[in-house]
Amino acid sequence: MSVFDSFSLQGRVALVTGASSGLGRHFAATLAAAGAFVWVAARRAERLAALVDELQQQGRAAAALGLDVTDEASVRAAFARMAEQASLPDVVVNNAGTSAFKPALQQTAADWDAVVQTNLRGAWLVATEAARHLTAASRPGNIVNVASILAVRVAGGVAPYCASKAGLAHLTQALALEWARYGIRVNAIAPGYIATDLNREFLQSEAGEKMRLRIPQRRFGAPRDLDGPLLLLASDAGRFMTGALIAADGGHLLSTV
Ligand code: NAI
Repeated sequence: MSVFDSFSLQGRVALVTGASSGLGRHFAATLAAAGAFVWVAARRAERLAALVDELQQQGRAAAALGLDVTDEASVRAAFARMAEQASLPDVVVNNAGTSAFKPALQQTAADWDAVVQTNLRGAWLVATEAARHLTAASRPGNIVNVASILAVRVAGGVAPYCASKAGLAHLTQALALEWARYGIRVNAIAPGYIATDLNREFLQSEAGEKMRLRIPQRRFGAPRDLDGPLLLLASDAGRFMTGALIAADGGHLLSTV
């Protein structure tokens, strides 16, 4: 057996939340390329159908799943559907996320709720529902939470986002501690800046360009820069890892400004 075989997801089932765009769409393609059957979950059905078509044309296995991570009933229904189809996910990527970009003095309670309910409460709902199903079936599994470098450092204009991602990083450790006994690993990735719908406007602005120059590698990331950390955590290659937070950020966390 080659050392690379432990990165294979052949025979595994994965779930990616927020798979209709950006990083989630890319994560789904990466996991499918590694051999997993992938449930691509989000609210926008048309985009999901197009992604499933595209993956199937490449010979990958995927299916769409309607899911709003802020809605407990929707999360429960999604897992009930996967269980019914005898296709419970071994790998859960908690990727759905959102932000509100404005000074803290202008952020409203509604802004806070939208961000924290999606990024933190949503990830918690999905992780706990996954673990409930896995433990009931006496099956191991692993959860990969998509945090951010803003779980560790802060930036202006995104206070609720920073708080939600710091919470998600801490939640990762708390769940890892409790679920190791069930063979469920819980880890997180902390990506640096990668242009997606979430931040494209900012990254292309003058302030974004100034920030790029403060990143040690002097560049923003590309979605494929996260393939290594994702596959490490999602596969048996990371079997001794739980409660870890892996930064993939071009060295951004090292910069002091
Ligand atoms: P994006 O806006 O393209 O993707 C976010 C996805 O989450 C979208 O598909 C959206 O529809 C989905 N989503 C939002 N609310 C949802 C809900 N209630 N239920 C289900 N799906 C929902 O942005 P991006 O950048 O791809 O973000 C993906 C994740 O990566 C987020 O958690 C984000 O915080 C994180 N991240 C992104 C970074 C970046 O530079 N792009 C850096 C660090 C973390």
